Amino acid sequence: MKISFSAPSLPRTGPIVVGVLSGGKLLATALRLDKSAGGALSRAINASRFKGESGQSLTVMSPAGIGATRVVLMGLGEAERFTDLAAQNFGGRAYKAVSATGDKSAVIAIDPISGAKVKTSEIAANAAYGALLASYRFDKYRTKEKPDEKPSLRALTLSSRSSADAKRVFTPLSKVADGVFFTRDLVSEPANILYPATLAAQAKTLSKLGVKIQVLEEKQMAKLGMGALLGVAQGSAQKPRLVAMRWDGAPQAKDKEPIAFVGKGVTFDTGGISIKPAAGMEDMKWDMGGSGVVIGLMKALAGRKAKVNAVGVIGLVENMPSSTAQRPGDVVTTMSGQTVEVLNTDAEGRLVLADAMWFCQQRFKPHTMIDLATLTGAIIVSLGNENAGMFSNDDEICELLIGAGKSVGEPVWRMPLGDAYDKLINSDIADMKNIGGRWGGAITAAQFLQRYVKDGVKWVHLDIAGMTWSGKDAPTVPKGGTAFGVRLLDRLVADHYES
Ligand code: BES
Ligand code: MN
Ligand code: ZN
Repeated sequence: MKISFSAPSLPRTGPIVVGVLSGGKLLATALRLDKSAGGALSRAINASRFKGESGQSLTVMSPAGIGATRVVLMGLGEAERFTDLAAQNFGGRAYKAVSATGDKSAVIAIDPISGAKVKTSEIAANAAYGALLASYRFDKYRTKEKPDEKPSLRALTLSSRSSADAKRVFTPLSKVADGVFFTRDLVSEPANILYPATLAAQAKTLSKLGVKIQVLEEKQMAKLGMGALLGVAQGSAQKPRLVAMRWDGAPQAKDKEPIAFVGKGVTFDTGGISIKPAAGMEDMKWDMGGSGVVIGLMKALAGRKAKVNAVGVIGLVENMPSSTAQRPGDVVTTMSGQTVEVLNTDAEGRLVLADAMWFCQQRFKPHTMIDLATLTGAIIVSLGNENAGMFSNDDEICELLIGAGKSVGEPVWRMPLGDAYDKLINSDIADMKNIGGRWGGAITAAQFLQRYVKDGVKWVHLDIAGMTWSGKDAPTVPKGGTAFGVRLLDRLVADHYES
């Protein structure tokens, strides 16, 4: 979809979206249209339950006296509570209201909102960003969709008094959207198409943005001693990969220590010999969600030329049962030297991350390391599909992430760690086992990961199992792959780690 910014203008045809505040207070463009249409908009409001609350909308078809063939009145809620995020949701809802009407182009009128804390240019840019995010579709495998079943909208214009400023604010946001779309594509792709080698090839495409990429194959990983990652991979005909991506954007400090992001990339998780039940197993194509976020985030950072040194490391494997698969009870030696008794081959994500995290720290010496993984069903039991679970050895970065999460609408909720939980993964025959007991499964998984964090490294683990895929549409996140984490971490970097 093509997005453009223009000076205020009323379309001669097609749809126009206008804002209305709580109490039915029409903004400037809505007022103008209402006047030209002889009060048709006010009458429509009075004849309905529409009150301008956030989330409400009312479409008025072909009112006499104006060119637009439909006027979408979109509720904005209270002026004082209107934020960037509210503008994004407004844009997303506006897109939805006009995308499938048969029209090829539409206008969203952005008017100043007196009493709001956001500038008109920011409202326009964020509404455009929200509309863009809402326009995502994964339709490459639909060959028989009829044209009148598809979204018709091709061009969206945001008209406002400050279109040049709006465009400037929008440019970096559009790069974040590029990252989000890339992640959503990767997460949606089925596992017969996306497996370690092809996922690594996708990561490699970032080199055209200036990201330096290194791909390790089985032999090199064996040489480094990544016995845990390789143990998971050994049951599959698809060979594992480990990808390191590096974006050096900090000015005058190319050698400055980086912030690192590590992702779980299990391109399909059958559970291995500890096999999962059949029902719902197809969901495990998105068990590479953490790595998808790391790739999309690196794309966003490089795309908007973030002034930060950042690395992304992803461990890519397919977890399959076969005659070469690892068995429950096998003991593997990780790159760190620590040994693990693999009591359940379905607790594979932590095995992959143990080696990916160790490699990341050895190789890049990050000051901060944030890992993302669709790690446990237990985190979904704890937090549902509303918050990612956050585990960390550092209070300060948790506060920063909670703040970033609120401002982009990707919330995280901190979970506990501690010695009493750590004890639960001690093994009788090795340094640790890969499962705890029946209770606190997301926490024992995090304790396992913490055993692979070096002293002095600030570490955060985000368990995104409940957030990577969504069964229902939200204003800026269509159902399917969400790319949860890309916007969160981009914002964290933008607000706290750029020089
Ligand atoms: N990939 C799963 C976790 C998962 C479950 C992600 C549901 C998304 C939705 C992970 O590898 C797994 O199988 N975890 C097990 C761990 C258990 C064997 C200790 C789980 O959560 O059941
Ligand atoms: Mn598993
Ligand atoms: Zn898994």
